[in-house]
Amino acid sequence: MGTLNPNFEGEAVIVTGATSGIGREIALRFGDAEAAVIVADIEKEPKDAAVPTHEVIVDEGGTAEFVQADVTDCSQLTELVNIARDYGGVDVMINNAGLFIGGSILELDPEEFDQIHAVNARGVYFGTQVAAIDMIDRGEPGVILNTASISSNNAQFDQVQYDSTKGAVRMITRGAALELAEEGIRVNAVAPGQIGTEFIDGWSEEAPEAAKNDDLIKPVPLGRAGTPEDVAGAYLFLASEEAGYVTGDLVSVDGGWQVF
Ligand code: NAI
Repeated sequence: MGTLNPNFEGEAVIVTGATSGIGREIALRFGDAEAAVIVADIEKEPKDAAVPTHEVIVDEGGTAEFVQADVTDCSQLTELVNIARDYGGVDVMINNAGLFIGGSILELDPEEFDQIHAVNARGVYFGTQVAAIDMIDRGEPGVILNTASISSNNAQFDQVQYDSTKGAVRMITRGAALELAEEGIRVNAVAPGQIGTEFIDGWSEEAPEAAKNDDLIKPVPLGRAGTPEDVAGAYLFLASEEAGYVTGDLVSVDGGWQVF
């Protein structure tokens, strides 16, 4: 099989939730592809690695900066696009930060509901807004990518609050794509399946076994859990000119989880 060799030299990419997990790998891949990467996260120290994301990129000769930012705070999202102006302005905004809170709808605590929606849905909405306004102001249309989930399309037991945030991400993506198309801005989402990260405590160890049996409602057709490396390439494709006619879509990277 061939490989794509994306290059984003001269472009500025913001990745939220880029300290750990999927966001970290996305940031590293854009760093490899010569983008200037703004690594935005509420935490500086990775849960799953020794060296912070931006340091890996810089150590390998790339350009990256860590910015401590909470996506629930609109002024901090605006600050991210302001910082991107130091690198020519945001070309690719990746709203990836997310958290998981499980539990039955019969037990759901209103504060937890607000917390998970503030990060997973509101953070994506306003991350999209600030990036789009900045692109329009500069007259430089770019690309906005959101991290959705298999939960954007499918209910899972004891996940109604999480699933509802990811359903919102799907519709934020589609609505924004519709509205921003005339500005030349493309908006898409990536929907990862079961990816072994520290998103849920201990999940990186459990995910490979869970993928082979029906512990999680159904097994993964490709027979294994995914990795951040499996997912990151979709973001590079969607950000690239190769995807110039793709907007409003939700690209699943789930080992076939949704086929049955
Ligand atoms: P992770 O927990 O490894 O990484 C999430 C990152 O987001 C962390 O670095 C965390 O510090 C950051 N973050 C959390 N709240 C934040 C906030 N308020 N502001 C800024 N940063 C914040 O988890 P993972 O798995 O890499 O998740 C990334 C995205 O992928 C999330 O949106 C998640 O919902 C989504 N996803 C994950 C799947 C999985 O199986 N791991 C499956 C489908 C979607």
